Amino acid sequence: LEPPVIVVPKRVQEEDVDDGKKKVTVFFGTQTGTAEGFAKALVEEAKARYEKAVFKVIDLDDYAADDDEYEEKLKKESLAFFFLATYGDGEPTDNAARFYKWFTEGEAKGEWLNKLQYGVFGLGNRQYEHFNKIAKVVDDGLVEQGAKRLVPVGLGDDDQCIEDDFTAWKELVWPELDQLLRDEDDTTVATPYTAAVAEYRVVFHEKPDTFSEDYSQANGHAVHDAQHPCRSNVAFKKELHSPESDRSCTHLEFDITNTGLLYETGDHVGVYCENLSEVVNDTERLVGLPPDTYFSIHTDKEDGTPLGGASLPPPFPPCTLRKALACYADVLSSPKKSALLALAAHATDPSEADRLKFLASPAGKDEYSQWIVVSQRSLLEVMEAFPSAKPPLGVFFASVAPRLQPRYYSISSSPKTAPNRIHVTCALVYEKTPAGRIHKGVCSTWMKNAVPMTESQDCSWAPIYVRTSNFRLPSDPKVPVIMIGPGTGLAPFRGFLQERLALKEAGTELGSSILFFGCRNRKVDFIYENELNNFVETGALSDLIVAFSREGPAKEYVQHKMSEKASDIWNLLSEGAYLYVCGDAKGMAKDVHRTLHTIVQEQGSLDSSKAELYVKNLQMSGRYLRDVW
Ligand code: 2AM
Repeated sequence: LEPPVIVVPKRVQEEDVDDGKKKVTVFFGTQTGTAEGFAKALVEEAKARYEKAVFKVIDLDDYAADDDEYEEKLKKESLAFFFLATYGDGEPTDNAARFYKWFTEGEAKGEWLNKLQYGVFGLGNRQYEHFNKIAKVVDDGLVEQGAKRLVPVGLGDDDQCIEDDFTAWKELVWPELDQLLRDEDDTTVATPYTAAVAEYRVVFHEKPDTFSEDYSQANGHAVHDAQHPCRSNVAFKKELHSPESDRSCTHLEFDITNTGLLYETGDHVGVYCENLSEVVNDTERLVGLPPDTYFSIHTDKEDGTPLGGASLPPPFPPCTLRKALACYADVLSSPKKSALLALAAHATDPSEADRLKFLASPAGKDEYSQWIVVSQRSLLEVMEAFPSAKPPLGVFFASVAPRLQPRYYSISSSPKTAPNRIHVTCALVYEKTPAGRIHKGVCSTWMKNAVPMTESQDCSWAPIYVRTSNFRLPSDPKVPVIMIGPGTGLAPFRGFLQERLALKEAGTELGSSILFFGCRNRKVDFIYENELNNFVETGALSDLIVAFSREGPAKEYVQHKMSEKASDIWNLLSEGAYLYVCGDAKGMAKDVHRTLHTIVQEQGSLDSSKAELYVKNLQMSGRYLRDVW
C-alpha cells in the first residue's frame, strides 16, 4: 500500500487571509526573554519584506485557555513559527509548559494539522544533556501530526553565539516565505534588512519629594508571579562553610509573613536581586549621567501611539538612574552582537564605532567568539574598552543592557516546619574569568552581603516569587525515597526531610529513605551536618551516605557511593521507590544517570537496552525526578 500523499497548498488559502492579507502566527516559549526577542525580531524583519501579510506574535500561554481551545485554534493556522527554549532537565519554559504537555501527551491525534506549514527555532545550550529537546520534540510532533516543515529545526546554542544561529536559520526561512507571501506579480527584489536600534522614549522628571522605589505596589497583588513579585525581608542569614573554607555558602531565610506568598516542599523561589554598588558605580560612570537622574521609560510616543520598530519589554517604574542600574540592567553578562551595534551607533570616536561594528559582523565572528565569548567579557568591560560609546538611556535600556533576570533557587525548607519563611541555600559565585576579571555572581554576592532582621531593623529585602515545580515527595509517605544531592543540591532534600519529620511527629508511618550527599571535606563544607544527623536520629532519614571528594587519595563522589550501595538501591526501586537528583546538570547529574543505568543493568541482570527502558519507565512514571541546573 502506498502511503497517503498529503497535498499541502503552497499558496495560502482564502480563509487564512485577513482583510486581504495573509496571516502568519509566531509563537514563543520564553523564560528570560531571548525567544520572545527573536520572535519579535523575525516579525519586524518579515513585516518589512512582506507588506501583504499580517503577523502576530503570541505567548503560548496566552494563545488558548484550555486544551480544546489549543486544538481549535491551531487547526485554523496555516503558517506559523515557533521559538522554543529548553530549560533545566530538558523542560519547557513556564509559559510553554501547558502547550507542551497538551501537544505531547494523551492520545495520538492523527494527521489533523495538514493545513499547517511551519518552522521551529530552538534555544538551548549544548553543554546540557537535553540540548534543544523541546524544539526537537515539537518539530517532530508537528510533522507526525500532519504539518509541513518549511525549514529544518534551528538549534540555537547559547554556549556559543545564539544570535548567529538565529541569523543562519532566518536565511533558510526567507526563500520559503518569498514563495508563500509574495504576490505572483510582485517582481521587486527584497532589500536587505538592517534592524533599527530599538529605544524607549525617555522622560526626565524632577525628583518627587516623596517617592517609593520599592515593590510594595506588588504586595497587594492577588497572585505573585514573575511580573508581580512580592517584597520580602531577609529574616536570617548564616554562613554554612567553616572559617577555613576558601569558598562560601549562604543559608538565607526570607520572611513571608502576611505577604500572601505560599509554597510547597520542592518549589523554587525566584529572587530579583540588585547589582553590587561597585558595579552600579562603574556603569554610571560609563553611561555618563548623574546617578540621581530621575526618569521614566515609555514604549509609546507622546501622543500615546506605539513606537515603531521592535517591541520592547514593558517599562520599569519611574526611578533614579542609580536604582535602574541596580535593579534592571544586566551588565555582567557578555553583550550580544545587537548590543555592540547599538553601542557603535552612539560611539563618537569613529575607530571605536568601526571596531564595534566589525565585532558584530560575519567577518568578525572569530574575534567576537574569542574576545567576548571565550574571555567571558562582560558588557561593563566592553563599555570600558569603548569609552566614547555613551548611548542615551532609552537606547541603553532597550538595546544595550538586557533586563536583569531573577535567579532561581530550590527552596531548602518545608512549609510544615517553616510556614512563614522561605529558606535558600546558595553557594557564592566568585571566579576569575579568562580575561582576568573577578566575576562575582550577582545574586549569590547579594545574599552573602545581605543584612538580616536579626542584625538591623533596616534589613535587606528583595522582590521574590514562588515558582511551582514537579519535584515532590510521593503522595504516599510509605513509598521509599532515594535522594542524591551533593553540594547545594542538598537544598530541596533538606525541605523533604523537614516534611518527613513533621509527618512522623504527627504519627504518620514513613517508608525508608536514603540520602547521598557529597562535599569536599567533613570539616569544611559538610553543610547542615547536625541537622542531617538529627534527621537520622529521629527516623525521618533511614540512611545518610556522604562522599568526601578531597579527604582521601582518590576523589569520592556520590555516584561511587551509589555503586557501593547498588543492591540497596535496586531493592528500593523494586519496592516502588522514587529517585531524586538535584544539583549540577553538566557533570554530576550525567554521571549519576550513567551509574543508575549500570546499577539497574547489573542488579536486574538486564542487557543495556532493557536497562535503558527500565530507567526511561522510571522517568515516564514520575519516579525519577531531577532538579538540575
Ligand atoms: P570536587 O570539587 O572535589 O571535584 C559538591 O560540589 C561536591 O560535588 C564536591 O565534593 C565536588 O567534588 C563534587 N563533584 C564534582 N564533580 C562531580 C561529578 N561529576 N559528580 C559527582 N560529584 C561531583
